[in-house]
This record gives sequence, structure tokens and C-alpha cells, in this order.
Amino acid sequence: MSDSIDIAAGAGPADWCRKSPWPARMDFWQSATGLFLTLFMWAHMFFVASILISKDAMWTVAKMFEGYFIFGTSHPILVSGAVGIVLTLFIAHAFLAMRKFPASVHQYLAFTGHMTLLRHRDTTLWWVQFMTGFLMLFLASAHLYQMLTNPGDIDPYASGARVFHSWWPLYLVLLICVELHGGIGLYRLAMKWGWFEGANPDASRERLGTVRTGLSVFFLVLGLLTLAAYFKIGWEHRDEPGVRYIPSSVEGGGKRGG
Ligand code: HEM
Repeated sequence: MSDSIDIAAGAGPADWCRKSPWPARMDFWQSATGLFLTLFMWAHMFFVASILISKDAMWTVAKMFEGYFIFGTSHPILVSGAVGIVLTLFIAHAFLAMRKFPASVHQYLAFTGHMTLLRHRDTTLWWVQFMTGFLMLFLASAHLYQMLTNPGDIDPYASGARVFHSWWPLYLVLLICVELHGGIGLYRLAMKWGWFEGANPDASRERLGTVRTGLSVFFLVLGLLTLAAYFKIGWEHRDEPGVRYIPSSVEGGGKRGG
């Protein structure tokens, strides 16, 4: 029997919804954007952590994104372009994920009730991912908007001042959220799509859980050390507003600029 005859035979809108490919498509794009954002985040943590090597290393990374080593001059608009792409994917990911958020107190209580009853690790992890995702809607948006509109204000001293004078509480909470959210997200992706699934699914789940914890702890420690390094620089230069870093390769550099 063809579809048109099925519909003509009385199948209502509810049946058409059941046949829709859109839930699967949205799930795919939620996974794809989540994967991209997590991989971006790990790269981002390494770039930002260049401050742990030296101020010159961080300055070089910042200037690289401004196209300085290609054009010979800085073009902060390139940074804004990159932020724009990340922001677009961040919004798309949040939009796709929000359809799974509890829509009422009743739904929220039903979920937490199940979570308490089941005491299953992966169910609890879903709740952690929901809460951290919700917080990131506000925290990451603030950070991305700041980077989008002030792309030229990134160097050891400008970033140090920003962290010390105002942003460290936001970065601290954002760091915890993003590392938990990204780690759990990748673990759930691997479970959902069957990546790295061996002969024994229970053993694979345990192994992936260990990798997830290891990655979250690694990036949390790296992030905390990085945040402390920027805070220290900001504190050391707290009485020099607007000071910019001049690299040691430039005459008179390695210390400060106006
Ligand atoms: C979803 C996207 C993003 C998240 C969740 C995020 C998160 C964070 C976190 C948690 C920190 C604190 C670093 C630490 O604790 O070690 C940080 C710092 C920083 N981020 Fe991002 N970030 C995102 C996107 C971006 C983008 C697109 C840029 C591009 C310019 C960027 C540039 C920076 C810089 C330069 C710092 C150093 C501190 C500063 O200059 O204010 N971030 N980010």
C-alpha cells in the first residue's frame, strides 16, 4: 500500500510526525556541532595555555590569529571572523540541545525522581550536562561577545588585566562547566554512535568513562594553572592601565608597551 493511500485511509498529523526524519537529522547536527565545539575547546585551551610557556609564546599565538605573520600587520577582524563561526555553531548547538531540556517543573521533577530512583551513572551525567549547558548559555555568550567586539585586546598584559580586574569569576565557573560538559558530551557521543565499542560493551563503557574523567581532570588542571598565570600578570601590572606587551624580539620589548 502506498503512503498516499495510508494517509487517505485516515492517518492523522500524529502519524506524519512519527515518520518525520527531522528528529534524527537534529540529533545528528547536535552531535556534529557538539563534537566540533569540544575539539575547538581543547585546541583553545592549549592556545590560551601558551602563557605557561612564556609571554612571548602567548603573544606569538595571539598575533598568529591576527594574520601578523602572513600580512606583516595585525588584522583583529580575522579573530572576530573566527569568533563569529564559533558563536554561530554554539547557538546552533544550544538551539538543537534545548529541545531536550525539561519544559516544566513537572517534567524536571519527573526526571530528577527517575535519576534518584535509578542511581545510574549515565543518567546522573545527563543531568550534569543539562545544568552545565544551561549555565554556559550565559557564561560562554558573554565571553564570545567580548572576544567578538574587542578582538585586538588579546596579549599577555591585556588578557592578564581582563582576568584580574573583572573576568576571573566568570572564567572559573565557565572552565568547570565547559570541561565537564565537553568530556561528558564526547563520552555520550561515543556511547550513542558505538565508537570504540569492543566485544564487551560493559568493559567499553568503563574504559570510556575512565578516559572521560582523565580528559576532564587534565583540562581542568591546565585551565586552572592558565587562569592563575593570567591573574598573576594582571596583579603585577594592576597600576598600569592599558599597558600592552612588546615581545622580546622587538627592541626595548619583553617588558611593556604603552
Ligand atoms: C564556546 C566557546 C568558548 C568557551 C566555552 C571558552 C572558554 C574559556 C575559558 C573557560 C577561559 C578561561 C581560561 C582558563 O581558565 O584557562 C577562556 C579564556 C580565553 N578565551 Fe575562550 N572560550 C570560548 C571561545 C573563545 C574564542 C572563539 C576565542 C577567540 C578569540 C577565545 C579566546 C580566549 C582568550 C584570549 C582567553 C584568555 C583570557 C582573555 O584574554 O580574556 N575564546 N575561554
